[in-house]
Amino acid sequence: MAATVIDGKASAARLREKIAAVTAELKAAHGLQPGLATVLVGNDPASEVYVRNKRKTAEAIGFKSIHVELPADASQAELLAQVKALSADASVHGILVQLPLPKHLDEAAVLDALDPAKDVDALTPTNAGLLLSGRAHLVSCTPAGVMLLLKEYVGDIAGKEALVIGRSLLFGKPAAQLLLAANATVTMAHSRSRDLPGLARRADILVAAIGKPEFVKGDWIKPGATVIDVGINRVDAGDGKYKLVGDVDYAAAREVAGAITPVPGGVGAMTIICLMHNTLIAACAQSGLPLPTAL
Ligand code: GUN
Repeated sequence: MAATVIDGKASAARLREKIAAVTAELKAAHGLQPGLATVLVGNDPASEVYVRNKRKTAEAIGFKSIHVELPADASQAELLAQVKALSADASVHGILVQLPLPKHLDEAAVLDALDPAKDVDALTPTNAGLLLSGRAHLVSCTPAGVMLLLKEYVGDIAGKEALVIGRSLLFGKPAAQLLLAANATVTMAHSRSRDLPGLARRADILVAAIGKPEFVKGDWIKPGATVIDVGINRVDAGDGKYKLVGDVDYAAAREVAGAITPVPGGVGAMTIICLMHNTLIAACAQSGLPLPTAL
């Protein structure tokens, strides 16, 4: 039997309504409008699309959206000056510096210039450490979105075997922490792991975040497993066009899995919603208001 398709778009649309309602209440009761700043350096086409979608969603929800664009050859000093100015601007509650940055720029130095209270991607060492300590208010957006989908489609994951393939700061590391906090038995795998297919075949929850098109094969999937595909890869579709595929061979995995996220339409939409939720939390925290529980 083919797997249940996890409809991240529909879940995100429902959560978006809730966030918009809380935002309207905040405005009416406290005159507070959450502000989200996006910073885009260069003109990577995928990053341009992601940032445009984030800005559009922020505006549709009722946030103030501030956008800073720098050329691909912007200097480290220019970028740091922008990030510091946004960190000091009281109308900006959340700052997102779209990654990856052009190679000549030092990502760690940029994160160090970012006020952790406004770090809605939860990438600064402060927020990564708070997550490790189980005390985070701001949690990385894609891992948070994945946990919401698991909550909706699987329910309690205590005791389940979860495999995370990929160990990035943006996804793999925080995802493993969140799965662990939800009492899963977590294995982290990566490009140097031995016998990935063998590890995958044990997983009740398989999370792929490696950035390699259709890397995870159908016969790696444990029958009935939940497959979460975090990859968004642009591959040639002929005619100078491209199409998006995930890190999992979707057609084959769908025949074996119990539930699976499609690409697009799975995890991606949830990432943006969690970014909005983080911005809401950051705005309330910076204004001395109780933290909302919109999700
Ligand atoms: N690049 C790909 N995904 C993300 C994300 O969630 N946040 C940022 N800042 N950059 C990204």
